[in-house]
Amino acid sequence: MTRRTIVAGNWKLNKTIAETRRLIQLFRNRLAGIDTRATVLVCPPTVAIETAVDAAKGSAVGIGAQNVFWEPGGAFTGEVSVPMLEAAGVEFVLIGHSERRSIFGETDAEVNRKLKAVLGGDLTPIVCVGESLEEREAGRTEEVVRRQVETGLSEVAPDHAHRLVLAYEPVWAIGTGRTATPEMANEVHRLIRGRLVDMFGGRSADGISILYGGSVKAENAASLMAETDIDGVLVGGASLDAESFTEIVRSAP
Ligand code: 13P
Repeated sequence: MTRRTIVAGNWKLNKTIAETRRLIQLFRNRLAGIDTRATVLVCPPTVAIETAVDAAKGSAVGIGAQNVFWEPGGAFTGEVSVPMLEAAGVEFVLIGHSERRSIFGETDAEVNRKLKAVLGGDLTPIVCVGESLEEREAGRTEEVVRRQVETGLSEVAPDHAHRLVLAYEPVWAIGTGRTATPEMANEVHRLIRGRLVDMFGGRSADGISILYGGSVKAENAASLMAETDIDGVLVGGASLDAESFTEIVRSAP
């Protein structure tokens, strides 16, 4: 089974509405000049989503949200819902990014509620997992990632499995300039795929794209994506620059 290659940019808490319009215009112009099979998307901050959708219209750039709440509406101050994102023209949503987990205390159980809400609609979820430095050094990578996958994806109907995208982002590699080697990352991707096989069966698991994230740059993207189980990248810092993000798209197989 051929899995789709995905190159996603996570802008985190960066770019105003005006900067979002400019960056997407720059990026879509550069992207138009290259031939790629990859699915390409960027996740701007919530306040700039409407502008991003508008600026990307008619191009190959998809728009994702960085977070979502599981309830469709109601008294939940500060949150944004699945129907709201869908109505805004969003196609993808990150769930359980490590910054959501470590700074905002998001748990595996909450990741699971969000995922189930997203699968109740039409958005494509990108579920993020990954161990901290402390956990890696204690030899707990497998245990931690396994728990995140099992709990985060529990009760997902097998016929929804084909809509899942996962991202392995070792926390120690995020924003640190310290990338996992392609072999190291692939080892964890294989472990994740093994769990997906157990949960959803071989055929479904084989079709789920697993992205790598953590200090991905134009210089290391190709070697990461050349690995057997690395089906794309989730890029933070290097996605804030149209030229470097275009180079990363160009290096997708
Ligand atoms: P950096 O690429 O800046 O390390 O961020 C990775 C990340 O967290 C993407 O979601």
